[in-house]
Amino acid sequence: MQTKILAALREANDYLSGEALSEQFGITRSAVWKHITKLKSEGYVIDSIRNRGYKLLSAPDILDADTISKALADNAIAHPLITLKITDSTNEEAKRLARQNAAPHGLVVTAEEQTAGKGRLGRQWCAGHDGGMYFSLLLRPDLPPSDIASITLAAGYAVCLAIRQFTDLPAKIKWPNDIIIGNKKLCGILTEMAAQSDKVDYVIIGIGINVNNTSFPEAIASKATSLALEAGHTWNKNDLLICVLRFLEQVLSRFFVSLSIEDVAHFNRLCATIGRKVTVERGGQQITGVARTVSASGELIIRTDEGRELTVSSGEVTVQGIY
Ligand code: BTN
Repeated sequence: MQTKILAALREANDYLSGEALSEQFGITRSAVWKHITKLKSEGYVIDSIRNRGYKLLSAPDILDADTISKALADNAIAHPLITLKITDSTNEEAKRLARQNAAPHGLVVTAEEQTAGKGRLGRQWCAGHDGGMYFSLLLRPDLPPSDIASITLAAGYAVCLAIRQFTDLPAKIKWPNDIIIGNKKLCGILTEMAAQSDKVDYVIIGIGINVNNTSFPEAIASKATSLALEAGHTWNKNDLLICVLRFLEQVLSRFFVSLSIEDVAHFNRLCATIGRKVTVERGGQQITGVARTVSASGELIIRTDEGRELTVSSGEVTVQGIY
């Protein structure tokens, strides 16, 4: 009921009388007042004037399922959309739903806070109630696992394009799929998959974007940035998520067929790793060289200091000048 009242206030964009709300939803005026009080306690600023009713003045900096679902009504992803206040990890939540067969292709789970956020290579991903945006997208492509090996690069490319369009900030990709601004990390992506030998059961693409964060834990403070820190003002997280999900849908639907030559060239232009000195580990040995290009299948091609060509398809690559 609270969600319905909130949706009505958003739609009205003006004062709505308690009487109109009680009639519309078949509840008493005192029940309407109780829901309004609850919304206020959650951070919604609602003005009330006698004989005119209630008007929504501002909403807290949290994701709102109703706003996002409406904006993405014609989109193949984000149906259903589950917005949680707190969970261990949105990837884990999506996985639990997938295992219960309660998660169709396109499901999106978001959380304001994660108590056990996961990063790549077994790392943690800090995700307090801190202005960040955390969500996971579940897909069920009818493809063998080998065909989606580079889906995580496609997701990073989509997120980078969305952030650039939404903010006009010079976001770039650090291969394989971190999004950076300057030499600091803005967004991380963790892809997990369940598959039989010949068919993917589900893929979960978990994305964490530093949106309105104003500070970071000491351990990452020198390596992390947020959209708010870069722009000097906060951003509307609902509008940003809508934009990111639109780009994800467009890019991933192309990816499932095959990304175009233009996409691969564009990815390379946005990839901050290209042209830089890099170090990779191979068989316990550190190999240094210069990153030359990202291939159509998503591998990083490096020209080693010995003049050999090295193809890297996964793992950690240290890039000189970037965290
Ligand atoms: C990385 O850069 O190491 C990847 C970080 C991925 C973080 C996101 S936040 C939403 C989703 N849920 C998680 O537990 N992790 C991903």
